[in-house]
Amino acid sequence: MESNAKNARNILCIGAGYVGGPTMAMIAARCPQYKVTVVDINASRISAWNSDNLPIYEPGLLGVVKEARGRNLFFSTDVEAAIKEADIIFVSVNTPTKTFGGGAGKAADLQYWEKTARMIVRVSTADKIIVEKSTLPVRTAAAMSRILNANDKGIRFEVLSNPEFLAEGTAVADMQNPDRVLIGAQGTPAGIKALDAIVEIYANWVERDKIITSNVWSAELSKLVANAFLAQRISSINSISVLCEKTEADVAEVSRAIGMDSRIGSRFLSSSVGFGGSCFQKDILNLVYIAESYGLDEVARYWESVVLMNNYQKRRFVSNMISTMFNTVADKRIAVFGFAFKADTGDTRESPAIDVVKQLIEERARVVITDPEALDNAKIDLAGCLDKVEMLSDPYAAAQGAHAIAICTEWQQYRELDYKKIFDSMEKPAFIFDGRNVLDHKKLFDMGFNVFSIGKPALKHF
Ligand code: UDX
Ligand code: UDX
Repeated sequence: MESNAKNARNILCIGAGYVGGPTMAMIAARCPQYKVTVVDINASRISAWNSDNLPIYEPGLLGVVKEARGRNLFFSTDVEAAIKEADIIFVSVNTPTKTFGGGAGKAADLQYWEKTARMIVRVSTADKIIVEKSTLPVRTAAAMSRILNANDKGIRFEVLSNPEFLAEGTAVADMQNPDRVLIGAQGTPAGIKALDAIVEIYANWVERDKIITSNVWSAELSKLVANAFLAQRISSINSISVLCEKTEADVAEVSRAIGMDSRIGSRFLSSSVGFGGSCFQKDILNLVYIAESYGLDEVARYWESVVLMNNYQKRRFVSNMISTMFNTVADKRIAVFGFAFKADTGDTRESPAIDVVKQLIEERARVVITDPEALDNAKIDLAGCLDKVEMLSDPYAAAQGAHAIAICTEWQQYRELDYKKIFDSMEKPAFIFDGRNVLDHKKLFDMGFNVFSIGKPALKHF
């Protein structure tokens, strides 16, 4: 078991995506004594990681990458060679929602994980620690351990769970100063030894009392539960936003009032057009599927309602736009400000803007999308309807001649635009639908805009 020992020095990560790339860059930057290799089957992604034009937009990330790249951080497509020399392998390949067969639409598609595990067994010649970085259903480690250890080479693999809690847009700060690092392992002597090897990595920059350990099942489940709780807060406050709109209460005031209760806490109470991102919906649906598979129907329905509320929030944003704009948006130019699922990222996976735009297209609006980082991804998301949308990087140009602006992403620059100039260039009456509650609504109203936000009284001139 020498390679499982505390002096393991070669770290590999399989999957150079939003999670694998940044996490490994941080480990390499903070731990020069380890050689960290990141591999991916996607060659263009790897060459982007080797350039100054990283494949993902993440503030501060290039600096971290540059600190270590070429020193002890390497990006490569040679998966097999990298597996051979690794002592510790983090697996961070994608685990999307299954689109076929049993559990379609809910269960996690584990085919990439399993293929990776089988490749690891095939090419390995020594013991290794395998770390689950991808979010996986609880008890995946058991299946992985079975596949990995069913070899006749006498090699032993220890499977650990070390879920990543970083959020996009703040990945560097989240990794530099995490609330906690969670590492789950089996309580066997080999499991504990492997756990020590992973703790030792993080202890290079994370305070010891923030590195928590658990059994491997708790670690796997905690990741799903953390995302489910975060998403649940957003759906909870979004459900209240609807009630606010009916009662002249203001959801921001309600959030502030309840958030100051230290038992509730103030974060993740911003009402919005809906949550997006690659994780929340996928992980809740996965949790729902797991509950169902244990026959826990009430549990499944409870968590499923978080996703259903989110779908409702996205849908009602557009139906409010339509009813407000005299029940038709057909042939009206509508400027969508922001396509990323949140600010400070170019990622558009499950972005609420996708649903908003598709619904507007169905209503035959002339949609113009602007976003500082996400237009390339928007083109992929809207591949089937590119002839029906326009994309412009300049928000002023996007708003010109529009009947309405719909804010879908809370980019800081959208708070700082010259809205008087925008107002003058728009059709009248001019509408703003602030799906993120980020603009100065009173000021916009005074300029002449009719302003509609989430969970707040509308400000209209008619
Ligand atoms: C992924 C998972 O989707 C998520 O569940 C988990 O929490 C973290 O890892 P992310 O990094 O955002 O999230 O995914 P993505 O950006 O799609 O990156 C996955 C990478 O794995 C891709 O670059 C893909 O090319 C690569 N991959 C996939 C492999 O290298 N080999 C494979 O067999 C499959
Ligand atoms: C999330 C988790 O926060 C992170 O811990 C996990 O590792 C991956 O999933 P991420 O999806 O990158 O991270 O972004 P997050 O900041 O959680 O935002 C998710 C969505 O919720 C975004 O669309 C965001 O705009 C929305 N949101 C967030 C709200 O609508 N209101 C809020 O108060 C907070």
